[in-house]
Order: sequence, then C-alpha cells, then structure tokens
Amino acid sequence: MTDRRVIVKVPASTANLGPGFDTLGMALSLYAWIEMSASKDGRTIIDLYGDGLDGIARDKSNLIYKVAQMVFEKAGISVPELHIAMYSDIPLTRGLGSSASAIVGALVAANALIGSPLDDDRLFQMATELEGHPDNVGASLFGGIVVSAWDGSRAEKVRLEPHSELEVLVAIPAFQLATEKARHALPSQIALADAVFNVGSSSLLVAALASGRLDLIKHAMRDRLHQPYRAALIPGMSEILEQATEHGALGAALSGAGPTLLALVERNSPRKEELERFLIDTLHNEGIEAMTMWLKPCSNGPELTLLRLEDSGSSLLKRIKGEVRA
Ligand code: HSE
Repeated sequence: MTDRRVIVKVPASTANLGPGFDTLGMALSLYAWIEMSASKDGRTIIDLYGDGLDGIARDKSNLIYKVAQMVFEKAGISVPELHIAMYSDIPLTRGLGSSASAIVGALVAANALIGSPLDDDRLFQMATELEGHPDNVGASLFGGIVVSAWDGSRAEKVRLEPHSELEVLVAIPAFQLATEKARHALPSQIALADAVFNVGSSSLLVAALASGRLDLIKHAMRDRLHQPYRAALIPGMSEILEQATEHGALGAALSGAGPTLLALVERNSPRKEELERFLIDTLHNEGIEAMTMWLKPCSNGPELTLLRLEDSGSSLLKRIKGEVRA
C-alpha cells in the first residue's frame, strides 16, 4: 500500500506532421492532469472534470484505471482500489492525442505512486503497445519532437528540441472523427512512387526540424500515404493543405488522424491573423464549424507533483486553477 498522492500534468500531441505517418510526433502546450492515490474508502472512485468527458467510464473499465493496473502488475505490486481524478483541456477524438495523453498520464502516475520502479523506456514500450503506434505517446512522454520507429515489439526514438521560433495554429472542427474510422479510410497497399515520395518528405522534414531549416518545411510537410485518403472525411482539408503556405504558414498537415488541421508558423510572422482567417473561412465555406487555438510546441514531457496521501483538502481542480484554459 502506498501513502503517496501524485498529480501528473501531461501534454497533448500532434502525430504524423504530414509525411511521418505513425512515426513523427510533437508535444503541444495543451494539457491534461491526472491525480492518483490508493483509495482510502476501499473502493475505486473516478472523478472526471472538463468538457466532453461525459461518455468516459467511471468504473474499473476506465482506461486510466486499467493502464495503472498494468503498471502495478508489471511491478508485482497490488493497489486494487484507486482514487483517480482527471481534468483535461484536450478535446477528445479530434486528432490531438487525448487517448495517448491519458495512457502516458496513467503510466507515469501509477509508476510514481509505487516509487517509480519502471524506467521511461519501459513506459514508452508499454504506451506504444497500448496505442498501436509510438508517435503520440512518444511526444507526450518525452516532450518536444519525437522521431520513432516501432517494429511491433520494440520502439526506438530520438527526441528533437523544437525550434524556438515555431508556433502552432490548430483549427479544431466541432465534429469528432474516430481514429479507427480514419484508419479504415487508408488502402492496404500503396504505389512504390508514393512510398518513395514519403520517405523523401519525412526524412527531409526531420532533417529540416533538426537543423533549423524552417524554409524547407513547406517542401517537406507533404504526404501521399494517408492525407489524400482521409481528405474525403474532412471537407476543406485539401484546400487548406494546398494553400496554407500562401497565407503565411511554414507548412500544414492533418493533425494525427484528424479532423484537426494544423499549421506551423513562425512566431513573429505578420500574417498570423490572415492564416487563422483562411483556416476558419475555408472550413466555414464547407459548413464546418471550427475553433482555432494558437499553441506552442511543448518541450517537456509529464510534470509530476508528489503529495502525501494525508495532504489535506484541496481537490485537483483547486490545485491546477490558473493553469487550465477554462
Ligand atoms: N498516426 C496515427 C494516425 C495517429 O494517423 O492514424 C492517430 O492516432
């Protein structure tokens, strides 16, 4: 039994960055918080705060609870009844890595609760297996830009520090798009020429991001593996991806499996308003309501706060007040 209480603040993420399907991810300055302790009441309690969390399970079928139990099992420790609280600013099923953030937050919180017997690599392997790809979980776990490759049994990664001038504009459509549906839209085979195109683009993008060549992003952030097939699911997407650089973006991509669209922008660009207008108007013309957010790449992975179980009183919401968007 553990007498700790932990709070983990974990970043959202964008996956793929265009050509790096299932391999590139970047952490974003949008967060979820998970608080975890052994339950004092002898039963599991799950409190969820934040918009759109209504459909999430509050019993032992909850993802955070299940992931925490996997950590305890791996460590050979039993903590069957938990008190979990979560607050999230990350919209669900929009392509901003909400499930990856929940998985990473649960892994880090549960591990910290029992004295951190598992190292980050172990958590990364577990997270990758749970998500089915390393892109979002890698970014949420390590922060920054994470380049990873998974062979089905091990994921390897290199973390890159995001360029200090990079900013991120996201246009988040009001409708949800399940990752599963967006993956079903993809063909099982692609032409060699398209594969070669993506190897080139993705390699160039990683090299451009690693060496600070922001001017190359517009050439590198192009994709023929997944975006063309997903475009039918997101009206306005093709136009945005084709024309965003004419409105001041360094490059644009579908964020993860969508429907959020993402543009990389230079921090001091004088064309930020024009770009934001272009994204909103293009989606609006297709009858899609969307909200925009200006975010930054997040350099850090999860932030952990350790408290004593008996530390009195204040709820998760009180502790994080001032940090949340709402
Ligand atoms: N790489 C994944 C995809 C991210 O594009 O389907 C979404 O989970």
